[in-house]
Amino acid sequence: MYNEFDLDKIDIDIDSEPPTEEPFRQYYFMAKCRDWVRAFEQKNGRCPTAFTQTFGCQMNARDSEKLMGILTEIGFCETEDENADFVLYNTCTVRENANQRVYGRLGYLSTLKKKNPSMLIALCGCMMQEPDVVAKIRKSYRFVDIIFGTHNIFRLAELMWRRLDEGKTAVDIWEDTSLIVEELPSERKYPFKSGVNIMFGCNNFCSYCIVPYVRGRERSRKPEDIVSEIRRLSASGVVEVMLLGQNVNSYGKTLDTPVTFAGLLRQVESVEGIRRIRFMTSHPKDLSDELIGAMAASKKVCRHLHLPVQSGSSRILKAMNRRYTKEQYLELVGRIRAAMPDISLTTDIIVGFPGETEEDFQETLDVVRQVGFDSAFTFIYSKRTGTPAAAMEDQVPEDVVKDRFDRLLKEVQDISARVCARDLHRVKDVLAESVDDHSAGYVTGRLDNNTIVHFPGDASLIGSIVPVYLEESRGFYYMGRMVSDGDRIQD
Ligand code: SAH
Ligand code: SF4
Ligand code: F3S
Repeated sequence: MYNEFDLDKIDIDIDSEPPTEEPFRQYYFMAKCRDWVRAFEQKNGRCPTAFTQTFGCQMNARDSEKLMGILTEIGFCETEDENADFVLYNTCTVRENANQRVYGRLGYLSTLKKKNPSMLIALCGCMMQEPDVVAKIRKSYRFVDIIFGTHNIFRLAELMWRRLDEGKTAVDIWEDTSLIVEELPSERKYPFKSGVNIMFGCNNFCSYCIVPYVRGRERSRKPEDIVSEIRRLSASGVVEVMLLGQNVNSYGKTLDTPVTFAGLLRQVESVEGIRRIRFMTSHPKDLSDELIGAMAASKKVCRHLHLPVQSGSSRILKAMNRRYTKEQYLELVGRIRAAMPDISLTTDIIVGFPGETEEDFQETLDVVRQVGFDSAFTFIYSKRTGTPAAAMEDQVPEDVVKDRFDRLLKEVQDISARVCARDLHRVKDVLAESVDDHSAGYVTGRLDNNTIVHFPGDASLIGSIVPVYLEESRGFYYMGRMVSDGDRIQD
């Protein structure tokens, strides 16, 4: 197990050869880099600093924790901004504006690097899986030192060493991989909750989406590896896990011994100390009755389902290659609600997919009204090069899309303000997550259905689950006050 590994015991003499097997190869390069860090400390009288910035989804956030884990192990000290010796951007390319943000920040980094020429700049993640992006960076952003993709993030130390040793840009992009490297360090953002990858990649090829191209084919981690990671997390104080995958409902299908997602949930449920289990994302086409049953029977699986609908028009859904119709989606929601009447449902919606008419858009509004989502992430369709939708005719004009987007947002917000208030004047368990930024003396937490609650309290509560009376609903969140356990039982 990683925790039992001592980097200082690794032979990194000048004539030593790196092991070929993973993760031992990476331990070797971590030890090499740690040597470099020690020399840096001797020279500068301080540890080298590192900053990572994550763009994109929870998958990337989890990857960044692993990257930070490697950096910390090597001896870097984490800092809060780009004034650092090592800056890493973990990029996203799901929509064009995600890319633009990275290019914008790179401009800023170039000015910083002029002031501190020994600073190292690394880029990784989904954007780097696009050959055009890498070509542009190598041509126009030559100050970038290390470039790698999504499939080889575990190789950070090796690439850093290569850059330090050879003195030129280290580029390493893999087209795809079947490899899952276990037993590497990770530096968690929160002590009490953690994301846990259960699968990587995506095989769905929704016609608008670039993720399958940049994250590769679907592959699941073995249930025993997942469960042992969660046991370790629990032992270190984690009470909530978020199981992560692009389509968790197809988990386990390709394993040597196939396991369903519902089966995995039951195994995770049995881990002592874990109080809340969440997961993302569920594709409606693969959501089984077995899963609904497992959720309903569980005391730990949260009453929240993120179920992206994308569009309410069956015609557009077909063009999106989503493989369900409006009716099938609504019927699925009916089955979920029948089993768990108190469940909170959230979704993702795209407006302005090629060929979307006003009638199609009205179908989307209709689904939003019929389902009554707790919240919805609404996106303007973004053309991604290489996806089938990018080549479709009838791209919708920008002003039409903007108008639909505004109407959708208003509808979503009105409904969500109504729906979110369902627990008003009740006592509910809240996981206290952080001290309030805005109002002193308050903490922010979440209900099991993911709704945010602010209530009077202090840092000592962070990470514990406490009963809170929900006094006032303010649209998307509640104001509450802590009560004693006795009050909770009377609820
Ligand atoms: N695997 C998840 C979604 C991952 S991407 C799922 O299938 O639900 C997160 C969201 O980004 C998607 O649900 C979709 O709504 C949005 N999205 C993906 N590609 C997009 C594009 N080209 N333009 C606009 N939104 C997009
Ligand atoms: Fe993209 Fe569809 Fe895969 Fe989600 S399921 S990541 S939207 S291709
Ligand atoms: Fe973005 Fe990659 Fe996630 S493209 S949304 S970071 S999988």
